[in-house]
Amino acid sequence: MSSELSPIDTAKFVAAKQATEYVESGMKVGLGTGSTAAWLVQCLGEMVRDEGLRIKGVPTSARTARLARQVGIDVITLDEARWLDVTIDGADEYDEDLCLIKGGGGAHLQEKIVATASERMIVIADASKKVERLGAFPLPLEVLQFGYRTTQDLIAETLIGMDVLNRDISLRMNGTAPFVTDEGNYILDLDLKRIGNPRQLSLALNQIPGVVENGLFIDICDMVIVGHANGKVEVTDITNGTNEVVRFDVRDDDNIFVNIAD
Ligand code: A5P
Repeated sequence: MSSELSPIDTAKFVAAKQATEYVESGMKVGLGTGSTAAWLVQCLGEMVRDEGLRIKGVPTSARTARLARQVGIDVITLDEARWLDVTIDGADEYDEDLCLIKGGGGAHLQEKIVATASERMIVIADASKKVERLGAFPLPLEVLQFGYRTTQDLIAETLIGMDVLNRDISLRMNGTAPFVTDEGNYILDLDLKRIGNPRQLSLALNQIPGVVENGLFIDICDMVIVGHANGKVEVTDITNGTNEVVRFDVRDDDNIFVNIAD
């Protein structure tokens, strides 16, 4: 792999790097899943190795657990941690209220449990994830394998009463077989195009038997850190109502994170 980062990886990297500002020794940290969160795990691993950072990491997927161990982070389970100081994760979409769609990588169930158990959730993203209205990205629903076709019919019925633009539902596949989550469940992706009322939709979907968890994160995220390819980073903190801009010098060829794997 070249030591030159692509524009999108630069954006993800600077967002992740800025997020490490909110991690201190002694903290229990929820480690998200996905390509942006993988940068964060790499950055934290580097701080553990070179700066003596001492943290306990709670991964949100088997693949994040593997990466965290690889880079030297002390990994513990959520049951061991019980309560976390901060969770830092990516997102598939976020709106101005910091409501999110997550689960593009199929990990939103563990991600939501870990984020909810955290004092603070920080989302790291590139600018493409910001939307005016959620829903262009298909909403993932983790469902039990048992009777999933019936569950799908119940979801279709529920969607009729919801403020959405489209109602297509598809079973997520992994090649020719259904994709199976870390918890052994299936994912149904809801192509809704536009979600008028995310809160109402989230409540309605989670009431359907067979639905384990939907990918809407409402009132969970406290801060979004958006990276840009030119090194600019925007930090929006919904709790304090602040917006801050930070700049990284991306001309330096100090890319020590070239071995990233996700
Ligand atoms: C994993 O299931 C997701 O919730 C990810 O956090 C989300 O898909 C963002 O991933 P990227 O950082 O790879 O875009």
